[in-house]
Amino acid sequence: MFYAVLGLSIFFFVGITFFVVYFTIKYRHRPGHKAQPSPAHNDAMEITWTVIPTIICVFLFLGGWKGYLEFTSEKSNPMVIDVTAQKWHWNFTYPDGTQDGNLHVPVGQPIRMRMTSVDVLHSFYVPAFRVKQDVVPRRYTYVQFTPTRPGVYRLYCAEYCGDDHSQMKVKVFVHEAGGYERFLSEKASLSQSMSPEETGLYVYNKKGCVACHSVDGSPKVGPSWKGIWNEQVKLADGTTITVDDQYIKDSVLEPQKQARPGYPPSMPSFAGQLSEREIAGVIAYIKSLK
Ligand code: CUA
Repeated sequence: MFYAVLGLSIFFFVGITFFVVYFTIKYRHRPGHKAQPSPAHNDAMEITWTVIPTIICVFLFLGGWKGYLEFTSEKSNPMVIDVTAQKWHWNFTYPDGTQDGNLHVPVGQPIRMRMTSVDVLHSFYVPAFRVKQDVVPRRYTYVQFTPTRPGVYRLYCAEYCGDDHSQMKVKVFVHEAGGYERFLSEKASLSQSMSPEETGLYVYNKKGCVACHSVDGSPKVGPSWKGIWNEQVKLADGTTITVDDQYIKDSVLEPQKQARPGYPPSMPSFAGQLSEREIAGVIAYIKSLK
């Protein structure tokens, strides 16, 4: 199909260029040459230039329609992976409940991504798979593909979604037979064996905290995490509060409720995105950043 379209395009481009040049020379203004009146009508010609392109358009449409159906209709027995896009990271939830910031899929398995966003428009884009689909708040959109070659590919956000839009790039791991199961079991044993601080560091990097919060004291979109534990901080309403377990947990679940002045209200709620264990990890990690 691609080559048919390319061939036709080249054919018309060369043809039209030829006639433009030919007529420009043949009918140019010159001494002793009288301009002829334009012909008003030619039924045969008009029917030809209407019917032939119409037939071509019908074939182009059929090709596109077939591709569209393939792209959108649900494949038999797909593996459904839930995708949550958020400023500025991706979260993938696998059928067994495991979550990860990168996408892992077994080779040869039809995959259906059920996607939604918690804040603004994002777009799921894996160039190597030729798939791109908007991810929209408050509704599901779908994209599906069957990975055919094991390897590591790039996944981008293709809809400008704010400061760190360009940082919403993660990896797609297409696993060979058995590799996907190994990923799930490694992930499970890793999360069991991590200390609370390690869990917090993991969450910090994988759930997008890193986009807005530094751990070295430098200001980013949000306040740094360094040295805030047990400190008194000013809130937007003029009161002060101590940064303790409760304040950190509240800030994760309802960021705007006790926001600090001087920072834009851009943090979304992480309610439902982090387990109790992960929130406890974030608290332990902040505590460790003296
Ligand atoms: Cu998300 Cu751009």
